[in-house]
Amino acid sequence: MYKHTFVYFSLGVGISSLHLFCHINNTIPYNLTLFSVDILQVECHPYLNQRKLLDFCKSHDIVLVAYAALGSQRLKEWVNLDLPVLLEDQVLCTIAKKHKQTPALVALRYQIQRGVVVLAKSYNKKRIKENIQVFELTPEDMKAIDGINRNIRYYEFLLKTVLIPA
Ligand SMILES: NC(=O)c1ccc[n+]([C@@H]2O[C@H](COP(=O)([O-])OP(=O)(O)OC[C@H]3O[C@@H](n4cnc5c(N)ncnc54)[C@H](OP(=O)(O)O)[C@@H]3O)[C@@H](O)[C@H]2O)c1
Repeated sequence: MYKHTFVYFSLGVGISSLHLFCHINNTIPYNLTLFSVDILQVECHPYLNQRKLLDFCKSHDIVLVAYAALGSQRLKEWVNLDLPVLLEDQVLCTIAKKHKQTPALVALRYQIQRGVVVLAKSYNKKRIKENIQVFELTPEDMKAIDGINRNIRYYEFLLKTVLIPA
């Protein structure tokens, strides 16, 4: 019914969680025609790398902004705690060790090197400082991290809460 929905935006628009539109409209992002959307904020991390959406955004001059870039705060109200902990991933840990960094910094650096803007939340002064460290991942590191994508969405409860009220 909504297969050919068109969404028009005017100037300087930032939107979040486009997948909500897509579920509501029973369609996928590429069926939507977006005009002048500047920023799209979605869940994005090595377990949900949003490769297709990122390519789409780059080809339409839309900045992709990642939330849950560190695998979320894992609040039980929002996240299924049975899902694996991103920052314990073996590939991230091995790369971190090699660069004498932390898995969190590897996850953040991965996004920056692929052109994604990152929202990383921390209440800890030391980690806030740490999160702006600069170092370089090699092309091999990037490829290895691309390889751990598992389509794990930590905020799947957010989607269900909004779309399927009890
Ligand atoms: N637009 C949306 O629909 C939407 C949805 C969800 C979230 N967001 C926003 O996105 C932002 C980030 O998402 P998020 O808070 O879910 O998750 P996140 O940034 O992936 O993870 C935050 C968690 O990582 C920890 N952390 C931060 N730096 C670390 C480091 N260097 N090493 C180890 N752990 C570290 C934090 O703990 P400490 O505090 O103890 O450091 C916190 O528990 C938030 O501002 C949130 O409001 C937006």
